[in-house]
Amino acid sequence: TPNAIFHNEPFTDFTIAEERDDFLQALSNVKSKLGAHYPLLIGGESIYTEQRELVSLNPAEPEQVIGYVSKAGQEFAEHAMQNALSAFTLWSAVPAEQRAVVLLKAASLLRIRKHEFSAWLVYESGKNWAEADADTAEAIDFMEYYAREMIRLSETSVHQPLTSISGEDNKLKYIPLGVGVIIPPWNFPLAILAGMTSAAVVCGNTVVLKPASTTPVIAYQFCKLMKEAGVPNGVINYVPGSGAEIGDYLTLHPKTRFICFTGSKEVGLRINQLAAQTENGQIWIKRVIAEMGGKDGIVVDETADLPAAAVAIVNSAFGFQGQKCSAASRAIIVESVYDEVVSRIIELTRQLKVGLPEQNASVGPVIDENSFEQILEYIEIGKEEGKLVIGGEKVEGSGYMIQPAVFIDVDPKSRLMQEEIFGPVLAVTPARNWEEAIRVYNDTEFGLTGSFFSTNEVRIQEALNRMHCGNLYVNRKCTGALVGAHPFGGFNMSGTDSKAGGHDYLLLFTQAKLVSRKI
Ligand code: NAD
Ligand code: ALA
Repeated sequence: TPNAIFHNEPFTDFTIAEERDDFLQALSNVKSKLGAHYPLLIGGESIYTEQRELVSLNPAEPEQVIGYVSKAGQEFAEHAMQNALSAFTLWSAVPAEQRAVVLLKAASLLRIRKHEFSAWLVYESGKNWAEADADTAEAIDFMEYYAREMIRLSETSVHQPLTSISGEDNKLKYIPLGVGVIIPPWNFPLAILAGMTSAAVVCGNTVVLKPASTTPVIAYQFCKLMKEAGVPNGVINYVPGSGAEIGDYLTLHPKTRFICFTGSKEVGLRINQLAAQTENGQIWIKRVIAEMGGKDGIVVDETADLPAAAVAIVNSAFGFQGQKCSAASRAIIVESVYDEVVSRIIELTRQLKVGLPEQNASVGPVIDENSFEQILEYIEIGKEEGKLVIGGEKVEGSGYMIQPAVFIDVDPKSRLMQEEIFGPVLAVTPARNWEEAIRVYNDTEFGLTGSFFSTNEVRIQEALNRMHCGNLYVNRKCTGALVGAHPFGGFNMSGTDSKAGGHDYLLLFTQAKLVSRKI
């Protein structure tokens, strides 16, 4: 029920034989469904564009087709916009509690089909079991959390008590914005997509959803689930397509009221710029929520628990092959303990097994050929800029697999320390002392996540003030933010700091209306 206290969805314990068996069964069920054709979903209608399709491949075995997905051009993008516009009239009038109940129903359906969704993630995005399970759990969390938040937001006296004035009845209520364009990334192809879409929809908006081109099948499964839960036709319109073709078109569209984007800095800045233009017939300033890249880092001082720091660095650098906006791609270590931490990092990296996500290898493929080539280029750049101490080779086979790479003695100004690589590449650098280490940490245009490892309380307090990022952790890894506990979003070129999974998030999808009545 909407009133129950929010709890995070527990992660699956795969050491339990029954859980493993269930998961293997889900993998086998999903495998038998690979290679199907998927339509666009517009206004409740399934539309197949047989001449134009996106082909979604398994990055671990690219000869295996996950699905053929209909691809929208501008005509279908327009059709989706018109359907979203007409659905807005009805959906925005549905009481908030009713909308929240639909979202809770969707969350409970997803909970029942959790392993099935995770299995799609394993095949389509190359996540191992635990990473896929965490992605699905986070999607459930977002839905549960935003449903409750919608109720809270609709109780105006709870959300923002107003100063009482005699002779007046004053109320502030939060009403929806209109049609939003939702543009998620491929790296949390379920959680982030579900979070952005369900936040927009529970607030009474309708959306045109353009999934990432490498993970459109899991996006389709989510849209079907939302329909099954009772989201009316036209509220969520699913239109895969090219960013350049329909992304720009939808961003520029005069009826687009807001754009909710998560992805790279380059695309985020482009959207921000295009959205600032005013088109004929446009009567509002578009709102842009843009969460972008990171160059996250872990700082270790000489008082720290060094084995724990090394474990956190390796987990944060190489979980899901380093393809998290929160991934630690930099480690900055005080020089008196540098050699020891570096040798621990190398040892832990050596233990990582690269292999098939289906078989639950700790490290799997990167998302596609393009990404694979770019990461390998960065590894060549790294060989000029630092010392490669382990990994960096292509792994035999057709999948896009790269041995996790660690570079040491990398200059803080180098490309490896400044540019987001989005792959299994860690750059390590020494610092004279903890203060210099924090300066190096802050020497980036990004500001998403960071960790400080120390046992010195004074330094910890200083680090909390000085390290400039949206999500700062102490003595733990810098990935794995939990909905409700660690509202997530970054500073500077990491984005608009929208704090997904936090109390403020839904405000971004609403506008506040003050009503003052003389009594
Ligand atoms: P991307 O920017 O390449 O693509 C993101 C989305 O934008 C995709 O759906 C893509 O199709 C779409 N797109 C591309 N061109 C477009 C255009 N002109 N108009 C509209 N849409 C367009 O990013 P990606 O490769 O999918 O994801 C990886 C990036 O996302 C990394 O930089 C990562 O750090 C970032 N990310 C950030 C967060 C965060 O919360 N800050 C979370 C996850 C990922
Ligand atoms: N929310 C994800 C994490 O914290 C990106 O790792």
